[in-house]
Amino acid sequence: MTGSVQAKRVLSGMRPTGKLHLGNYVGALGNWVGMQDHYNCFFFIADWHALTTDYADTSRLKENCAEVMLDWLAAGLDPERSTMFIQSHIPQHAELYLLFSMITPLGWLERVPTYKEQRENITEKDLGMHGFLGYPVLQAADILMYKADFVPVGEDQVPHVELTREIARRFNQFYPRKNHGRSPRDSGREVAEEVPFVFPEPQPLLTPSAKLPGTDGRKMSKSYGNTILLTDPEPLLRQKLKTMVTDPARVRRTDPGNPDVCPVGDLHKIFSEARINAQVNAGCRSAGIGCIECKSWAADALVSILNPLQERRKKYEHNPRLAWDILEQGSARASRVAEETMAEVRQAMQMSRDFPCAGR
Ligand code: TRP
Ligand code: SF4
Repeated sequence: MTGSVQAKRVLSGMRPTGKLHLGNYVGALGNWVGMQDHYNCFFFIADWHALTTDYADTSRLKENCAEVMLDWLAAGLDPERSTMFIQSHIPQHAELYLLFSMITPLGWLERVPTYKEQRENITEKDLGMHGFLGYPVLQAADILMYKADFVPVGEDQVPHVELTREIARRFNQFYPRKNHGRSPRDSGREVAEEVPFVFPEPQPLLTPSAKLPGTDGRKMSKSYGNTILLTDPEPLLRQKLKTMVTDPARVRRTDPGNPDVCPVGDLHKIFSEARINAQVNAGCRSAGIGCIECKSWAADALVSILNPLQERRKKYEHNPRLAWDILEQGSARASRVAEETMAEVRQAMQMSRDFPCAGR
């Protein structure tokens, strides 16, 4: 943040899946941490979004939110610089979601790729729910509530941001500002009343997707059970690395291998220094090093990345109230912004609580 120019706003959310893994870190969290230096950031735990697929069992929901929050703080999200909160603590999201649902054509939602894929692929639960179809509408409410300029997301979420832009455009067309041109009343966002429309259109910020392999070589994912958690202690991490799959062509110690087709090689490319990568490359291709040694180097790199996170986590683990209080403070801050936006929305839709016959 510099000078008088207001920092652009970044917003992103994560569903409360419980303890986060390295894939979450590389794919999202690590990038969020870096954004705090440049943007006014809002990060929230999307517990209502979790309900769209896990509505039938809410027993672990709160616990999962707490775990995610601990991992966020451990990773270095900083309550001094970022507003962190839980979606359901800001009921304005539900109000905006409802209003958006009135103007979002069904066809837009049925065309969303994640919707089609998940309806086809997830068979163990019934996703034929209103809320599941409305998932991206709720996401649009999350994003537009804070008038985010940028939304850091993975590739799969880009269509949701695109849909958010379309909803913003449609809302703006139907409901332009009524008091456009009047002098600003509050100092919250200086330019608020100078623009003719309530909602700016957000841009996706594509997270550079280093495809992080899990221990079985497939994409690291909780549902595959192949994860390395941010909280895994060193011995467990080393154990997981030992059993990680390698270049299948390298059967014996004397067979040369290829780090470019080896998941451990991928880990090195993401986490190890150039010097180690050079050693892996030469040693693997010439059978000069064994996989056991190579994996221990990868483990070293991971340990040095996770150590500071685990150290930072301790403070909050010993006193989980601390993390929860941070969320509460974040909610209070988010609430103020949300209520400001909703006041503008209600005004634009001529649904404010003012007496209907103004001027009489
Ligand atoms: N749909 C996102 C995901 O599954 C989570 C999410 C909810 C989100 N609301 C958001 C992401 C708003 C960015 C902005 O990862
Ligand atoms: Fe993979 Fe390393 Fe073994 Fe090569 S030496 S196959 S990169 S684990």
